[in-house]
Amino acid sequence: MSEIEQIFSDARDWIIEAGEVIKAGLHGELKVSTKADEKDLVTEMDHEIERYFSEKIQKAYPAHLILAEEGSGHQIADTKGVLWIIDPLDGTMNFIHQKRNFAISVAIFVDGVGEIGLIYDVMSRELFHAVRGSGAFLNGNRLPKLTETGIPEALVAINAGFLRKNKLIDHEVMLRFAADVRGMRALGAASIQIAYVACGRFDAYMSMYLAPWDFAAGIVLMNEVGAEMTTFSGEAVNVLRRGSLFVSKPGFHQAFYRQYQVNIPAEDEC
Ligand code: IPD
Ligand code: CA
Ligand code: CA
Repeated sequence: MSEIEQIFSDARDWIIEAGEVIKAGLHGELKVSTKADEKDLVTEMDHEIERYFSEKIQKAYPAHLILAEEGSGHQIADTKGVLWIIDPLDGTMNFIHQKRNFAISVAIFVDGVGEIGLIYDVMSRELFHAVRGSGAFLNGNRLPKLTETGIPEALVAINAGFLRKNKLIDHEVMLRFAADVRGMRALGAASIQIAYVACGRFDAYMSMYLAPWDFAAGIVLMNEVGAEMTTFSGEAVNVLRRGSLFVSKPGFHQAFYRQYQVNIPAEDEC
């Protein structure tokens, strides 16, 4: 077994086991607190799952680095070495309100290259995974390369924020876009929405502001299925940087920019 295969095998075992920990905890009372504002929620389970991964990784791979949402990992300044990027519970609001539609997202980057991505939708028992150069899979079944879908046939995942006045794009354009596509959806868990583009359930996903742990595993999946993945202004995604995200089937980015004639400034200039 190669080193990457060994790491993947461990990460897959741990993500499934962590999913069982979450499911077992659903029967008890959830301890909820707020972070940046009253809509930014975190539970004791977010911390518990993050600790679970940190302990496993530190024991098995003491030289590896960890970037994790709830801060139990390292201070990461660059992408040198083996870096685990972890969202222990993506879709915390869904977890609290719905007890479903949340995921664990784990990516492994080596010297800045996305090698392994896993997104586990715990309640639907759907594990999306990709290993660079070996393809992307849903519950072990290989996902085909994506093919083009036009705007009128597209089902697009998007945050409601795009349909209000916002700093990123003229919301009137987005209202036209919403009318032109076949349908809009908002699932409330970034990683699941990216995974859904990978498997063809969505044709595109657009988000105004995400953090590395929301999309790092998604990068590996997107690469393996031939998806397009940029910031909203069309720049390459930087795995250590927060910002907007636009992922889609091939050709969709170009169709969007052409049809709506949008020229979005790079985010530093916003
Ligand atoms: C959030 C979800 C949500 C996205 C937010 C994220 P969290 O992650 O992915 O869909 O719109 O930007 O912060 O906080 O539940 O891990
Ligand atoms: Ca998240
Ligand atoms: Ca989270």
